[in-house]
Amino acid sequence: MKFSQSAVLAFAASAAAAPSPTHQESPRAAAAACSSAVTLDASTNVWKKYTLHANTFYRSEIEAALTSMSDDSLAAKAKKVADVGSFLWIDTIENIGKVEPAIADVPCDHILGLVIYDLPGRDCAAKASNGELAVGEISRYKSEYIDPIVKILKANPKTAFALIIEPDSLPNLVTNADLQTCKDSASGYRDGVAYAIKNLNLPNVVMYLDAGHGGWLGWDANLKPGAQELAKAFKAGGSPKQLRGIATNVAGWNSWDKSPGEFSDKSDAKYNKCQNEKTYITTFGAALKTAGMPNHAIVDTGRNAVTGLREEWGNWCNVKGAGFGVRPTSTTGTELADAFVWVKPGGESDGTSDESADRFDSFCGKSDAYQPSPEAGQWNQAYFEELLQNAKPSF
Ligand code: BGC
Repeated sequence: MKFSQSAVLAFAASAAAAPSPTHQESPRAAAAACSSAVTLDASTNVWKKYTLHANTFYRSEIEAALTSMSDDSLAAKAKKVADVGSFLWIDTIENIGKVEPAIADVPCDHILGLVIYDLPGRDCAAKASNGELAVGEISRYKSEYIDPIVKILKANPKTAFALIIEPDSLPNLVTNADLQTCKDSASGYRDGVAYAIKNLNLPNVVMYLDAGHGGWLGWDANLKPGAQELAKAFKAGGSPKQLRGIATNVAGWNSWDKSPGEFSDKSDAKYNKCQNEKTYITTFGAALKTAGMPNHAIVDTGRNAVTGLREEWGNWCNVKGAGFGVRPTSTTGTELADAFVWVKPGGESDGTSDESADRFDSFCGKSDAYQPSPEAGQWNQAYFEELLQNAKPSF
């Protein structure tokens, strides 16, 4: 997936890519599923009660990765990554098939994280994650993507779900509205996000709308329009009770609280007070409140251990030298931050570095982008090992 910016305008980028086909691993022993229906109170921080589940799909990717590791001590560390909770991306209609197998081993005190990611004209400001649905295919999005997911979540009332809604979509409408591709995608994004949050508003679900990151909607000029765009979607979706706020830094690289921030010495830093995600969720959170939308946040810390790697803040693709960050926890020290979570499955690519590929995006060919890298969502063993070596805390 995604993002970028500079002072006032931001341009985002993203990736898509059908990762591997439906996962077939047999479920692990079902550790005491709930005996009755789950009701999540989205007016509270559900992460205090529920642990992000280490899903079987990512586990199977790690298990496959282990087979090609010759360094035993690194392999022993890699094994531990399989036990870290992370989100499962439902990035194609076919990959809805991953949800049921992933539900099978979720114990009663865990929550299964899913990323809803298949809007028509997806990733309008970049190429790497362009999706399967074309601009205009909104009725397919509703009936072939959202409706079947709703059906599965309703059929599993004893399982708790945390959903991140459509990374990059609304932020792109805020900062990349000048691009024809984003103009074309705009009405489908707005309609699709509203439909998704209205229909996924179920008692066993808590939802977070994607809000980019501090280097995207954190610019002074983007804060208010950004908050208004998200609040408009929230209201168009019927102000769903189960929507708790926003997800930030999804597949991103920003530090939680580095101060001064990573890009504070740049000449345009005076136009952005949100130099780390902590400041961003606080500042953007205030704008959301004014705009009339719930404003608690979850923040992706999956790959943000190392700073100082990006030549520009907007560089989003397979950043070289990155490391796994803080493990999922509800101990954030900030009331507005419900939890640190792992959203981007570390090891899955952000986009291909193959210049001849249809979805090649120039960001994935930059000098700070790891190369070679496969299509977005595909496994990159060397990159996974790099994340592991550079993890903070270490494994
Ligand atoms: C890709 C998706 C993938 C996700 C998680 C996105 O950039 O477009 O296909 O599932 O990353 O790796």
